[in-house]
Amino acid sequence: METLVVWAAEQGPFPYGAAVVPVVSAATFAYPDLASWEAVAMRQAPGHIYSRTTNPTVSVLEEKMACLDGTDQAVGFTTGMAAISAALFGLLSPGDRVVSIKDTYGGTNVLFEEFLPRFSIAVTLCDTTNAESIEAEIRRGCRLVYLETPTNPTLKVVDIARVAAVAHECGAIVITDNTFATPVNQRPAELGSDLVVYSATKFLAGHSDVLGGIVSGRRDLIQKIFHYREITGGILHAEAAYAILRGMKTLALRMERSNANAMAVAEHLRRHPRIDKVFYPGLPDHPGHAVARRQMTGFGGVLAFAPHGGFEQVRRVLDRLQLAQRAAHLGGVATTAGPPSVTSHVELSAAERARAGIPENLIRYSVGIEGINDLRADLDQALAEI
Ligand SMILES: Cc1ncc(COP(=O)(O)O)c(C=O)c1O
Repeated sequence: METLVVWAAEQGPFPYGAAVVPVVSAATFAYPDLASWEAVAMRQAPGHIYSRTTNPTVSVLEEKMACLDGTDQAVGFTTGMAAISAALFGLLSPGDRVVSIKDTYGGTNVLFEEFLPRFSIAVTLCDTTNAESIEAEIRRGCRLVYLETPTNPTLKVVDIARVAAVAHECGAIVITDNTFATPVNQRPAELGSDLVVYSATKFLAGHSDVLGGIVSGRRDLIQKIFHYREITGGILHAEAAYAILRGMKTLALRMERSNANAMAVAEHLRRHPRIDKVFYPGLPDHPGHAVARRQMTGFGGVLAFAPHGGFEQVRRVLDRLQLAQRAAHLGGVATTAGPPSVTSHVELSAAERARAGIPENLIRYSVGIEGINDLRADLDQALAEI
C-alpha cells in the first residue's frame, strides 16, 4: 500500500516529460479531423471528448482508487455526497427497497429519510450493532444494502463480510462508505462489498483544502453510475483531482501516524477521571473490537469521547482546546474537534439526533499527525477546566 499510493496509475510518461500528473483544465478536446474525433466518440480509440464526461487528470485519480480498493473501476465526483447520491440514484428505481443502518453520516441519512422516499424508494434503517436485525430485513427482500463502518461519529463497527454474504444470497447490491478507514485500513471490496464510496475531502486528500468523492467497484454497476454522472454533471474538477492525488502520496504515512495517535489518545482518555466514555474501535472493550480486528488493518484516526457532566462541559472543553480546529471536518493533518450537532449530524434536528441514537454530549476528535505528547497535554489542560 505504501508503494501503491505513490505509484499506482502515475508511472507516466506524462506530456513534456513532466514528473507529475498534469492538470488538464480543458473543458473540451479538439481533433485535427472528423475521423479521429469520431473514433474517440465511438470509443474505437482512446481519448477524451468533453470534461463533463471524462477528464485526463480525473481519470488518473479514478484508476488509482480502483487499484487501491482492488476493484474494476472508479468514478470521481465533486463531493462525497455527490458520489453517494449518484450511486443511489444511478442504481435505484421507484418500488425498490434499501436496507441500511441508523448511524450513517447525517447527509446520507437525509437521502434515506427525505429524498429516496420522494421517489417511492422504501428505506429501512436498522440498529447498526444488531447484525441479526440487519440480516432479517435483508431477507425480507431489498435491492440495495448500504453500510458505513466505522460510523460517524460513534465509531460503531459493522461486519461487512457477514452482511454482504446474506445480501448476495438475496440478490442485493452492497455499498460501503469507507471514508473513515480509507483503503489503507480497510478494503471493503475484498470483504464482499460491490461498491465502495468515499468522501475524498477527508483522509484521502488529507489537507482540508479540497472537496471530492469517489465510487469504486464492479464494472457493470460503475458503468451505470458513470452514465448518471455524465448526464447529471457531477464530475470532479481536474484541479481538485490533482490536489487529491498530491495528498494521497502520503496517505499511508498519514494513516499510520493517525492510527497510532488515535490509539494513544483513546488510551489516555479512557483512564482520565474527567471522561465518562471513549468510543474507539481499537480499544479492546469496544463492542465492535473483534470485528474491527478481523476486517481492518488499522483502527483509524477518529475517536469520540464524552466528558462527565453533559453539553456544558463539552462546550468548555472545545473552547479551551488549542491544538484542534473547531470545524465541521475530519481527516486532515491538523486535529479537528466538534460535537455531532455542528459536525456529522448538523443536518438533523435535536429530536432526529435523539431518534438516531446520536448523543449530544459527545466530542468527535479527528486526530492529525501532530506529536502525541502535545495532543495529550492539550487535552489535559482543556479537561482540567471542567
Ligand atoms: C462518512 C462520511 N461520508 C460522506 C461524507 C460526505 O462527504 P462530502 O462532505 O465530501 O460531501 C462525509 C462528510 O463528512 C462523511 O463523514
